[in-house]
Amino acid sequence: MLSKDKMYVVEIVDIGQGGVGIGKFEGFTVFVDGGLVKDKIKVKITKSKKNYAVGEIVEILEPSPYRVERKCSKELKECGGCQIQELDYKEQLNVKTNEVKQVISRIGKLDDVVIHNALGMEEPFRYRNKAQFPIQKVDGVPVIGFYKKKSHDIIPTDQCIIQHDVNDKIIKIIKTYIRAYKVSIYDEKTHTGVLRHLVTKVGFTTKEVMVVLVANGRKLPYLNELASVLKENIPGFKTLVVNVNREKTNVILGNENRVIYGDGKINDNIGDLVFEISPLSFFQVNPVQTEVLYNKALEYANLGENDTVFDIYCGIGTISLFLAQKAKKVYGIEIVEEAIKDAKINAKINNLDNVKFYVGKAEEVVPKMYKQGKRANVVVVDPPRKGCDEKVLDTIVSMEPDRVVYVSCSPSTLARDLNYLDERGYKCLEVQPVDMFPHSVHIENVALIVKKK
Ligand SMILES: C[S@@+](CC[C@H](N)C(=O)[O-])C[C@H]1O[C@@H](n2cnc3c(N)ncnc32)[C@H](O)[C@@H]1O
Repeated sequence: MLSKDKMYVVEIVDIGQGGVGIGKFEGFTVFVDGGLVKDKIKVKITKSKKNYAVGEIVEILEPSPYRVERKCSKELKECGGCQIQELDYKEQLNVKTNEVKQVISRIGKLDDVVIHNALGMEEPFRYRNKAQFPIQKVDGVPVIGFYKKKSHDIIPTDQCIIQHDVNDKIIKIIKTYIRAYKVSIYDEKTHTGVLRHLVTKVGFTTKEVMVVLVANGRKLPYLNELASVLKENIPGFKTLVVNVNREKTNVILGNENRVIYGDGKINDNIGDLVFEISPLSFFQVNPVQTEVLYNKALEYANLGENDTVFDIYCGIGTISLFLAQKAKKVYGIEIVEEAIKDAKINAKINNLDNVKFYVGKAEEVVPKMYKQGKRANVVVVDPPRKGCDEKVLDTIVSMEPDRVVYVSCSPSTLARDLNYLDERGYKCLEVQPVDMFPHSVHIENVALIVKKK
């Protein structure tokens, strides 16, 4: 056992959950935030347990050969968003590929699955199309920024290197607007004041820009003047919306939108499809890698014009519409009613009439559809982090499709579900990790599963 507050020299050998460095001191495990593989670090022990300790970096004695300079300010390190930004990008991809390999073998107990190298971005910066900046008064001065990790204190921000660069200009304009018109700023402790958040959305292919001011009420001063400034200075500026959120909550957006300029919407394309994006609608945040992911899913689905597909956990139907371009019929199933409304609008905009959407819990809707005689020969699932419900997997197995394509944001629940399917006659052939969130520890995967002969 290591002693609390004492210093030890630790070598980092791996990266664990949340990007924490896993170090060793004479074989004993020490978790070190910010430690990178092959770093030799002097650490001070902050927590000591029988089987492991937690330490903080005092000095990097020998930096890892994969260590690179941070691109954003030192203060922003505290935002907790880019946990492994200081790891060379190629090495980030290796770490993520290895994690997927380990998890498929350890949790999935599958050792003959081909795991491809993670597909990364050519330019892994400025890739996000949606930004959410809290606004607060710090020492009486209004500040726009990001929350510090695990707190609601704000780190002032002029730019964030994973957000689209139009945000740098928008932040400046909103700061000037607040100062010029003495805009009242929301205080979450007393639930008083008005302006709470700045939210922006950008269409990467259309270059259209939406600015949303989240307010504790319907009124903010001089909004038409603000719209004029945005129009003059932000190329592609299309709409300004006040989103009303009067609740005492951590949820950023409220349900009511007041459109100040434009029509409250922007469009973006993924592949040949157009999607309408409103302040409340969900859209994948990395559109470049979304296309990579969906093309892989489409390749694995290997659709012909006679194929019928179930797209389970379909969200706003992005994958469903991608598949509908090739299949005879697609059924999308999703729990959120609003998302299905968007899915139907998007099907219409893209003139795709061979898609049908159902609202409800997949674990109830899919068995019901099966009982009613609906069948798919290809099934796509894209569940939330907790993976697929067993009732969904059981129904898929009963339906006996030729192929299942599993899109997953959690390697461990993917591995669990692949094992479940393997024991029931469905074999995973290959997994393609896709890096949707460079500099974070997250990795998305798409897996091809076929009916065993
Ligand atoms: C990872 S997202 C996939 C979204 C979509 N495929 C896409 O690429 O945009 C998972 C979706 O599952 C939905 N969901 C969560 N639990 C569900 C359930 N029990 N039944 C149906 N859908 C569910 C969520 O609302 C969310 O839209």
